[in-house]
Amino acid sequence: QRHLISAADLTRDDAVLILDTAEEMARVADRPIKKLPTLRGRTVVNLFFEDSTRTRISFEAAEKRLSADVINFSAKGSSVSKGESLKDTAQTLEAMGVDAVVIRHGASGAPYRLANSGWIDAAVINAGDGTHQHPTQALLDAFTMRRRLVGRDAGLGHDLAGKRITIVGDVLHSRVARSNVDLLHTLGADVTLVAPPTLLPVGVGSWPCEISYDLDGVLPKSDAVMMLRVQRERMNAAFFPTEREYSRRYGLDADRMARMPEHAIVMHPGPMVRGMEITAEVADSGRCTAVEQVANGVSIRMAVLYLLLGGAVFDSRNAPAHPQ
Ligand code: CP
Repeated sequence: QRHLISAADLTRDDAVLILDTAEEMARVADRPIKKLPTLRGRTVVNLFFEDSTRTRISFEAAEKRLSADVINFSAKGSSVSKGESLKDTAQTLEAMGVDAVVIRHGASGAPYRLANSGWIDAAVINAGDGTHQHPTQALLDAFTMRRRLVGRDAGLGHDLAGKRITIVGDVLHSRVARSNVDLLHTLGADVTLVAPPTLLPVGVGSWPCEISYDLDGVLPKSDAVMMLRVQRERMNAAFFPTEREYSRRYGLDADRMARMPEHAIVMHPGPMVRGMEITAEVADSGRCTAVEQVANGVSIRMAVLYLLLGGAVFDSRNAPAHPQ
């Protein structure tokens, strides 16, 4: 594939190849010199029209570890504020000789438009578009689950067949939930969504997953429980759930976490709203993988960039260190 727009576009073999390549990239990160010369001479633009901490920084770290030339573009402070269109912005970047564009945009479909418009020749990687998709988040989540639930070495070549994953919270506004449902289904996992009826999208009944309103009933049957942030910035204020009511029904506290099997993990894509969907005690516990997910994001984004920009099967044992 030339672009990564949606987790739904990945076959099982595509996804396992990315996860395995990310394991090789993680082995490079364990070496004293973490850099590879792989993308030397290639230019990657990080085109962010929406705020981000984790995704923006980890893409930049991944690009630098692969020795790419990196250009960071943030809509704030650019000519977008003067009314410049996505097309003109993209063509300005194309004129500078860009090989890949990592795009985050508030409008669902903006990365697809960029990839299929003919405006640019570069590979396009979706770093989150509206409420639609966030495929590298789903990949780093699957990578974290495979490592924790199957094993770092034992997991190579494997998917998540039979693992029971519960996703809890504001599914309506969540590109993370959509991407995870698509990818986890492709990887053979059984997914259950738990959410208030008002925070489920129309049409969710056709998604490849179960739906429940009973968090306490689902927790004992879960290998991983992924908590979602309530996205107030995408809601009409009249529909804000109260913190107390929401956390009582759908939040994860220590008592609820105790209902999970001993091996089960708590996940969160970040940013977390402590006290709403997750208590500080759970967020800071050894069972919560939120920080590990961020670290794994660098390996996943290295793998995606490497494979999209024409890399063959990657073996860290034969990879030269970057000449210093
Ligand atoms: N998980 C995630 O996408 O976080 P950021 O919005 O900080 O990039």
